[in-house]
Amino acid sequence: MIGRRAEIKALKTAYESSYSEFVTLYGRRRIGKTFLVNEVFGYNFAFHCAGLKGEGMARQLDNFRFALRRYGHDSCPRLKSWLEAFFELERFLERLPNGRKVIFIDEMPWMDTHKSGFLAALEGF
Ligand SMILES: Nc1ncnc2c1ncn2[C@@H]1O[C@H](COP(=O)(O)OP(=O)(O)O)[C@@H](O)[C@H]1O
Ligand SMILES: [Mg+2]
Repeated sequence: MIGRRAEIKALKTAYESSYSEFVTLYGRRRIGKTFLVNEVFGYNFAFHCAGLKGEGMARQLDNFRFALRRYGHDSCPRLKSWLEAFFELERFLERLPNGRKVIFIDEMPWMDTHKSGFLAALEGF
């Protein structure tokens, strides 16, 4: 890991916070966003999913569901909306042991397709 001291510190501070924190990382391709998050948290996520480049809502929701199932949410039903997706994510997280949890949504803008209600559902999460 070269540099990124301020960014590492910001992520660690958010992790140590007494509250739930939402952190966004933005920057051009290949600048090191994914690498930074993976390295700081040692690839240890309560949930991790990456938006699918150029795909529509149905495929994004399928992808999100498969990610939930990969993490152990075996009973996750087919997802029809982002409201449902975040509801299922909540349901999955509630069953995990207490303690700090890192949820990493990579390539988030691809999930926010036209009129999909992604941002509204995320706000409610
Ligand atoms: N701070 C860093 N130190 C060393 N290598 C890095 C660093 N940040 C990124 N890289 C290298 O650059 C590659 C691209 O970074 P990546 O995280 O995929 O970019 P992004 O997610 O912003 O598109 C990584 O696979 C890694 O090999
Ligand atoms: Mg990336």
